[in-house]
Order: sequence, then structure tokens, then C-alpha cells
Amino acid sequence: MTTSPRFKGSDSLPGARPFLKWAGGKTQLLPAIEARLPRGLADGTVTRYVEPFVGSGAVFFFVNQRFPLEECHLYDINEELVLVYRVVQRDVAGLIERAAALADEYAAAPETEREALFYRVRERFNRERAAIDFAAYGDDWVERATQFLFLNKTCYNGLFRVNARGAFNAPFGKYRNPAISNGPVLEAASRALSNAAIVQGDSAACAEVVDDRTFVYFDPPYRPLNPTSSFTSYAKGGFSDDDQVRLARLFAELDERGAKLMLSNSDPCNHDPGDRFFDDLYGAWTIERVPARRSINCRGDRRGTVAELIVRNYD
Ligand SMILES: C[S@@+](CC[C@H](N)C(=O)[O-])C[C@H]1O[C@@H](n2cnc3c(N)ncnc32)[C@H](O)[C@@H]1O
Repeated sequence: MTTSPRFKGSDSLPGARPFLKWAGGKTQLLPAIEARLPRGLADGTVTRYVEPFVGSGAVFFFVNQRFPLEECHLYDINEELVLVYRVVQRDVAGLIERAAALADEYAAAPETEREALFYRVRERFNRERAAIDFAAYGDDWVERATQFLFLNKTCYNGLFRVNARGAFNAPFGKYRNPAISNGPVLEAASRALSNAAIVQGDSAACAEVVDDRTFVYFDPPYRPLNPTSSFTSYAKGGFSDDDQVRLARLFAELDERGAKLMLSNSDPCNHDPGDRFFDDLYGAWTIERVPARRSINCRGDRRGTVAELIVRNYD
């Protein structure tokens, strides 16, 4: 394990950190993750970083600026999210310029107008979706990334929620002073992404790039507590128990290759002490329970400290 001085949270990090609010973001779990990183990151035997469920990338940004990695491979199923990453990587100046203009418009508007502005941008974002080619970088990507950033910072809880037709439908968040365009954070993220490949697709695709000099950090969607509490808003389709089993098989396959692997998930024992789902799936490896704050939950009374599972295949 590698340890270095503890820090308070993302604001005290000197450089890159997540530029989006994201459900399940791991910023507050970073000290626990940092204390369990593989030694190979510091001694140079691990040269490649892979994150198959990157989300807002809290662990990626942290690891990539602390250690001398040759390359990083990031994946997420959410095509809007991946589009924004690509724009941050390729045209951060264009994104900052447009986002700053929208942020100024928001700040200058009286409170009632702000809500109307939010719903106008949301409507445009949904209307223009059909015209976007998510597979090929185009002139319209910067504008789309700007809308996404704006909606992410001004909607309720930063929730990325879509309806059955794929339309973004999170409501207005009523924030007084949202950081819609944070130039230094976006620029630092852009620099951190210079050695990264960002792929839209299923996590299983990461198997192509994993070898014995690779560290993989898996942070899949949480397993729902029960069918009605399911937070299925990252993308259509959700992540079922079968998907969790499929992921555990991938973990075993990459373990065979000699890669260093870490996986986190919420602990089902928080709510049902008899639920051994992950203990059974990952019983061959080291499983630890660490305290975490749950930030997004459909029931306010379930916020608070819960245990998070961290699985590792190394000492
Ligand atoms: C718990 S979040 C990751 C949060 C991330 N660690 C962070 O700090 O923000 C899980 C992510 O997995 C993505 N996802 C869901 N199903 C997926 C799949 N089958 N393959 C790849 N990514 C998937 C979601 O879009 C979401 O961004």
C-alpha cells in the first residue's frame, strides 16, 4: 500500500479534480482509496491506469497527477458524459468561453428567470440530441458539452436522469451561486486527460488493454437496496445483479493476467446484515469495509454514514 499525507477533500488538491457533480463520486472516499493503492504506482512497475466506470473521475484525477503513468484508459456507458470528457480534452478553451457566457447570463438573471433559463437549455439539449453524432467529434460537440455542464451544475443534486425515451429530465436545482464554469478546474482536468483514452461503452471493453503492469479501479453502479430504491439514472438499462456477477468474472480474468485490481461498492450489509452478495462474489480476495457518507439517496432519512466495500487482489 502507498501512503502520503492526508488531505481534507478535493478543494485542497493542488490540481485536477472532478469538473462535474456525479452520483457515487468518490472524492470523499479518496483517503481510504489512497491508503490502499498498489505499491507499483510509486515504484514504477505499474505504468497503466484503467477505470471502466469512470463517472466524474475522482480516482483517475487523483492517481494520474500523483504517479508517473504512461497511459490511462477510461470507459463509461454514458455517451453524454464521454462527449464532455472528449471536449475537455480537445477544446477546453472553447468550452470555458461558452460556459462562462452562459454562467454570466445565469448570474445576471433574476431568480425567476434563472429557472426559465434552465428549462430552455434543457429543452434545447433534448431537442438537439437526435442530431448529435456521438461517434465522431464534430463542431456541435462544444455547444453540447456546454449545455451538459450548465445542466449538471444547475439541476437538482447534479443528477443525470433520463426518461424512457432518453430525454434528460432532472428538475431545476435552485442554487444561488452554482460554479457553472470553473476555468482552472477545467484546464487542470484537460491537462490530466492528455495521456488518457476515453471510450464510450460497456466496462467489459477494458479487458483489451489490461496487462500485468496495469492498475484497474472498478466503481460500478451501486446495487439497489430493493427494486423501488433503484437509482438507475446513469443510463438506460441500469446495472443488474447479473451484471455484478459478470463483472466479478472479469475481475477474476484480469487477476489471472497479473493486473492489480481494486473495486468499490456499497455494502448491502448496511441494510441487511445477512446479505453476503459481494462477500460471496469476491471471497477469493481481500474485502474491507470502510465508512462513507452517502450523498445521493432517494430517501433523505437514509443519508448519513454507511459502509463501503473495498476489494483488492494485492497486499
Ligand atoms: C458509481 S459511478 C462511478 C463514479 C466515479 N467513481 C466517480 O468518482 O464519479 C458508476 C458509473 O458507471 C457507469 N456505467 C453504468 N453501467 C455501465 C457499464 N455497463 N459499463 C460502463 N460504465 C457503466 C455510469 O454511467 C456511472 O458513470
